[in-house]
Amino acid sequence: METEIKNITAQNSKEIFCMAGELIRKGELVAFPTETVYGLGANALDGEAAAKIYAAKGRPSDNPLIAHIADMEALEPLVKQIPSKAKQLAERFWPGPLTMIFEKSELVPYGTTGGLDTVAVRMPNHPGALEFLRACHVPVAAPSANTSGRPSPTTAQHVLQDMNGKIPLILDGGKVGIGIESTIVDMTAEPPMILRPGYITKEMLEEVVGAVAVDKVVVAKSVSELGTGDYQPKAPGMKYRHYAPKAEFMMYEGSRENVIAAIRKRQQEEQAQGKKTGIICTDESKNRYQGVHVVSIGSREQEETIAANLYSVLRDFDDTDVEVILGESFYGDGLGQAIMNRLIKAAGYKLINADEKI
Ligand code: TXA
Ligand code: MG
Repeated sequence: METEIKNITAQNSKEIFCMAGELIRKGELVAFPTETVYGLGANALDGEAAAKIYAAKGRPSDNPLIAHIADMEALEPLVKQIPSKAKQLAERFWPGPLTMIFEKSELVPYGTTGGLDTVAVRMPNHPGALEFLRACHVPVAAPSANTSGRPSPTTAQHVLQDMNGKIPLILDGGKVGIGIESTIVDMTAEPPMILRPGYITKEMLEEVVGAVAVDKVVVAKSVSELGTGDYQPKAPGMKYRHYAPKAEFMMYEGSRENVIAAIRKRQQEEQAQGKKTGIICTDESKNRYQGVHVVSIGSREQEETIAANLYSVLRDFDDTDVEVILGESFYGDGLGQAIMNRLIKAAGYKLINADEKI
């Protein structure tokens, strides 16, 4: 199959949206930009179309998809009920980078929900995404448009790297704004529970609906912190190794100076063994390291810049011959937590305490 890329930022993109909508209604896949990452869309009400998403991504079939809608009227038919707290959150944050979990209605096939009786729904805040969704006339199931296990795509070129020849159409809206996936909140729990951290933080949610709980998989810094036994993250996708670069990747936590010293020491050790080493740091620390593959992902003063660059930095390392990547950690309850959650998974939970080592 040939994959077409169509630019939707031009004034006259109406025909392209019509064509995309037709493809979706015929049960085909279309990749599209959102404010978080690019999505790989299919008709959410058609289990067979959803199955094509799993095939194109190589995604485990127990990992459910998010249904994307363009207006509130489209929510009602998908869910058994809309809890009042969900209404409040929708009013405040939709369209936006928030996904809410509801009890699903009969209309939503198990092919979309990975066999679950709940459905995840999101209204993206991106003009191209909204116009695309309106042209589809059906809710659109869409995971991030990457091959399963690779970093999520933040440009149409990233999508092409992973989906070339597998899907008919990519809508190109340029680089996305936020760069990490939406916050997921389970509205069937009381209090509502964050299953995946994102741009909308716990504090922002609590301002609207009071107490909000956090699934322990969100804050875990090691596999052992998840506990042994049969603990299962409530968002099935959170249990898979995600966003992984090809190189071995490890993170360093601790005081700023100790982290820098430990990374520099490790870089020397790896290089002494002939291993090409990359470093992921920030604007504030970049000049403390030396080497060809020292990459700043943004400024700690503006964590939005870090979120926006995170996945493309990880992807870019795959185009180099770097064998080992050493990364600095991020902290806090806000966006820093969402960033660290992605990095720690990319590193397969390899986290070294620089304060202990020195
Ligand atoms: O920002 C985003 O949310 C992007 C854009 C494209 O909208 N989408 C996205 O989808 O990140 P995906 O498939 O990569 O991640 C969906 C996550 C997975 O961890 C999945 O397990 C969880 O949502 N999820 C979906 N439905 C669920 C449900 N009913 N219950 C619990 N978790 C669910
Ligand atoms: Mg994903």
